Amino acid sequence: MSGAGNLAAQSLFNTAAEAKITKLIRKMTLDEKIAVIHASSSFTSGGVKRLGIPEITTSDGPHGVRPEHGRDWVLDEGVDDAGTYLPTGNTLAATWNPTLGYAYGSVLGSEANYRSKDIILGPGINIIRSPLNGRNFEYLSEDPYLIAKMAVGYIKGVQDQGVSACVKHYAANNEEADRGTVNVLMSERALREIYLPGFKAAVQEGQVNSIMGSYNKFRGQHATHSAYLVNTILKGEWGFKGLLMSDWGSVHDTKEALLNGTDLEMGTDLVLMNSTVSQTASNGGKVHEDLYSQFFMADAAKAMVKNGSIKEAVIDEKVRRILRVMLKTHMLDGKRIKGVYNSKNHQATALKVAEEGIVLLKNEGGLLPLSAAGLKSVAVIGENATRENAMGGGSSQVKAKYEITPLEGLKNLLGKETPVKYAQGYKIALNQQADSALIQQAVTAARSADVAIIYCGWTHGYDYSKWDNNAYDAEGVDKPNLDMPFGQNELIKAVLEANPKTIVVLMGGGPIDISGWVDHAAAIVEGWYPGMEGGNALAKVLFGQVNPSGKLPMTFPKKLEDSPAHHLGEFPGKNGEVHYNEGIFVGYRYFDTFKVKPQYAFGHGLSYTTFTYSAMSVKRNGNAVTVKVKLKNSGSRAGAEVLQLYVKQNQTKIEKPEKELKAFRKIFLKAGEEQLVEFQLTADAFKYYDETQKGWLTAPGSFNIMLGSASDDIRGERTVL
Ligand code: GLC
Repeated sequence: MSGAGNLAAQSLFNTAAEAKITKLIRKMTLDEKIAVIHASSSFTSGGVKRLGIPEITTSDGPHGVRPEHGRDWVLDEGVDDAGTYLPTGNTLAATWNPTLGYAYGSVLGSEANYRSKDIILGPGINIIRSPLNGRNFEYLSEDPYLIAKMAVGYIKGVQDQGVSACVKHYAANNEEADRGTVNVLMSERALREIYLPGFKAAVQEGQVNSIMGSYNKFRGQHATHSAYLVNTILKGEWGFKGLLMSDWGSVHDTKEALLNGTDLEMGTDLVLMNSTVSQTASNGGKVHEDLYSQFFMADAAKAMVKNGSIKEAVIDEKVRRILRVMLKTHMLDGKRIKGVYNSKNHQATALKVAEEGIVLLKNEGGLLPLSAAGLKSVAVIGENATRENAMGGGSSQVKAKYEITPLEGLKNLLGKETPVKYAQGYKIALNQQADSALIQQAVTAARSADVAIIYCGWTHGYDYSKWDNNAYDAEGVDKPNLDMPFGQNELIKAVLEANPKTIVVLMGGGPIDISGWVDHAAAIVEGWYPGMEGGNALAKVLFGQVNPSGKLPMTFPKKLEDSPAHHLGEFPGKNGEVHYNEGIFVGYRYFDTFKVKPQYAFGHGLSYTTFTYSAMSVKRNGNAVTVKVKLKNSGSRAGAEVLQLYVKQNQTKIEKPEKELKAFRKIFLKAGEEQLVEFQLTADAFKYYDETQKGWLTAPGSFNIMLGSASDDIRGERTVL
């Protein structure tokens, strides 16, 4: 599609489409209009056969197209639904590479087409407010600017395949255990500066076609039908023209849903099914023939139109938005782009995202990269070395065509020459403590090997074959604390003692408490959930075939109580409410301003080469500021640096964070190569949200522009007046 065509295709709203939609709506009966605004099965919404309007087919999720299953959520057998399992959300964010965001989205869109899905239910972009939130592994970051840049690429990647993305969960869904009931209370400034910018960028830069409302309440109203979040901000201020769908069971009131902007009700059957089951039990086994007519936006909505309490025009507006998305996803013109499934290209993207997302946290004495030549033996330790993660975590589960585990990846790289000795080391099981026999085996293996590599950290749950067997990094649960489970600390300390040439690879969805042994470990790597090619990516980083370039998209605290949500705010909520008392001081905005030293800072990530910054300059031109710097790869091997630009306001009465990320660039340089890098900051980079003025203002005073390799590794700073 040509650029112009693409641009036109990008905007959800054009006159030709509107005319076509108006004609269609005029032909529809009220029953037909009602049919399209609620689900017709667990993952489809109603169509109108008479008028050639198909059902919309949705599918999770953010990391790949979910396996097929029926209404009662039992996985279908014998279907072609084993696809590409991409690295999870925060691995993608850790690449700090928007181009990869686009490639990632393209894979998702193409595989959604292949599986005949019209809407892929991703990306998940909720702010990582507490390290305990079970779904952090799906999300991107603690920083709204990084989220915005990574999400927009992803959304465009999906939608350029003619599939709709569905950015979620709008808004303030930052904890899992009580997600269906908790009422989130935060300042307007925190909402505008931290929790909304990712969604605003998705709408205004990404032109996202659909958005998913969240389970939680916001200031007393269910977010999915919050007049303020949906009517005032999303559709009013931001001009969103697509459809807002509920989360599965997040609609709770017909009138609110109709009047406060919910366009499509999904998944209520989970709620109704339970009530129907209880009704069935109570009324002698009579089950309501059509559960879907019991949806809040079904018979009850029709009755309100019939009795005049709701104008039919309210329903028409929802139908219009749904038809807009159908037009954008070629559902009405039969021109669905032919999808590709699990291709070598898709697998290559999965590998690339993992390679660029892995973060080298510590590397003392140059233990890494390892050299295969001359390496007589390697001990591989930990259940995470052999664990496959694709089917874990809840709705983002993917049936992977294959998943290269860390152990397999190592064996692929080392081949037959270097013997690899595996020891389980610890066991993933409910209430599992340190297992002295397993630890002893691991110590013996480590002691007799040249190097030891421990794959440890978090896991999704215990048994992925059971849907609700979630435990740590998973939907519907929050971690109880940051303590390493299953007695891993004892194992790690013992192995470090046995062989100082030990590398610790942390897998999982984010920070974990490593304070017990971090000072004794020479090398530590964050591997996240790196997708189907993750084992190969990890091996290539450890053995230097890939120079790590990942940077942390969230702060790793030394201990849980150092986290602002726990130190200043509340997590999780109690008595049905959660107060975000930390306000705008989320993540590094808190650690830097309140001078709390983290274990590893936002934006931290080491390389096997070094970079020098020189000739930094800042120049104001009107409201904008041009920032220049020379970046040189001063080391002996090619690598990539993520240049981070932070803005700080000097001397102001306005309460402000020490610094805020306002630009970044990932630059690939050969050894010795130097590049001039330029940033253009607009006036927006210097604004804050003023609650009195209810708008964005620039406080008087000067600003410092900082350039760095991490939020705690600033390499240059200049003042601009
Ligand atoms: C889940 C999740 C949402 C998912 C939906 C459909 O409860 O919150 O992210 O897309 O339901 O599975």
